[in-house]
Amino acid sequence: MTTRHHPEVPPTAGLPLRASDLWPTRPTLAATLAEQLDLPEPLLECSGTAALLVALHTLRRQAPQRRVVVVPAYTCPLVAITVHSLGLELRLCDTRPGHFEMDPQALAQVCGSDTLAIVPAHLGGLVADLDGVLDVAKTCGARVIEDAAQAMGARDHGQSVGLRGDIGFFSLAAGKGLSIYEGGLLIARDPGLRAALTRTHAEIVPRRPAWELRRSLELLGLALLYRPAGLGLAYGGPLRRALHRGDPVAAVGDAFPPTIPLHRVGRWRQGVGTRAAARLPAFVQQLRTQAAQRIAQLRDMPGLQVLEAAPGTTASWPFLMLQAATAARCEAILAQLWTAGLGVSRLFVHALPDYAYLADRVPRTPMPNARNFAARTLTISNSPWLDDDAFAHVCTVLQRSAGDRAD
Ligand SMILES: Cc1ncc(COP(=O)(O)O)c(C=O)c1O
Repeated sequence: MTTRHHPEVPPTAGLPLRASDLWPTRPTLAATLAEQLDLPEPLLECSGTAALLVALHTLRRQAPQRRVVVVPAYTCPLVAITVHSLGLELRLCDTRPGHFEMDPQALAQVCGSDTLAIVPAHLGGLVADLDGVLDVAKTCGARVIEDAAQAMGARDHGQSVGLRGDIGFFSLAAGKGLSIYEGGLLIARDPGLRAALTRTHAEIVPRRPAWELRRSLELLGLALLYRPAGLGLAYGGPLRRALHRGDPVAAVGDAFPPTIPLHRVGRWRQGVGTRAAARLPAFVQQLRTQAAQRIAQLRDMPGLQVLEAAPGTTASWPFLMLQAATAARCEAILAQLWTAGLGVSRLFVHALPDYAYLADRVPRTPMPNARNFAARTLTISNSPWLDDDAFAHVCTVLQRSAGDRAD
């Protein structure tokens, strides 16, 4: 096992907060991000999950006879939990081989006149191909909600992700590009649908001072600890303890509570995000430059394939995603690097049907491509704190693993 790197690199590239961000200011977070990303009047929610909840609630009202929500079999468990919490029927679509995108043929088979929404995900800042999804949605009359939780700043033919489907949402959770500890941004191209989302928000999202106080304290903690010297305590320690007790689901933070907090985001947290957002465009640009250099080095690694941005799209690169030729090879690499403090991790540990704790909420239908993708995928942080020397060390381990014959 590789010796532990000091200080600790986070698994994703979050924009670090500064002490000056904490000083109250005019809370224009949603408007500031709208201007930067050219988004039409986004709604600020208390998480990406809450944004999805408001979206599904709105669509269900518009088409009460449709009860099925189709999601990729490889995505964040919170997506499944949200669908279930609204009493809607979750239906999974397998991914296409070697990717997180939904397989268009499988999608056509699971969608029909009962489909309320399809929720494709743009994972790791990579823009998913939506052509097939939009075709299927049109044929069956379903709406498309783009899950851009991990992709704020990514662009599809020049415009922000989240605008090709009917609705889109981003996450402002800890570790995301811009974070207010927990937050989400909800967008819709169509003014009528936007107005409907705004009405739902007004109706179902309450002020909850206790939740907001808790999130404010957590944001203070994030500002304090989201730096190499603090991440050992906040991230590395819990990760290593979870892996030590054989719990990879807890290690990557895939175990979520069954209920979804829903409350308005307070002015102070909005202000912190507003100040930090001023540095976001330059930060995303820095990530793009670093990703381009590092992908060039990873491209020729034997037995490893790096997921790249599709033509016409620009990724935002919170981390780089790699596919090992086999699950055994992936495990061999992680055995050396996962606890090394070098920002190497897994994204989601399993395909959705394989999380034991979701057994009562997710159909058990086998999803072979998603399962295979989960077993072979590892991630390398694109945080600027992973400096060139540390990245070179990661590359050496990756290269060496080719000779280990794990596969
Ligand atoms: C793909 C995906 N969808 C949805 C979410 C939920 O977002 P949030 O954590 O802001 O609730 C996440 C969270 O990371 C995610 O990765």
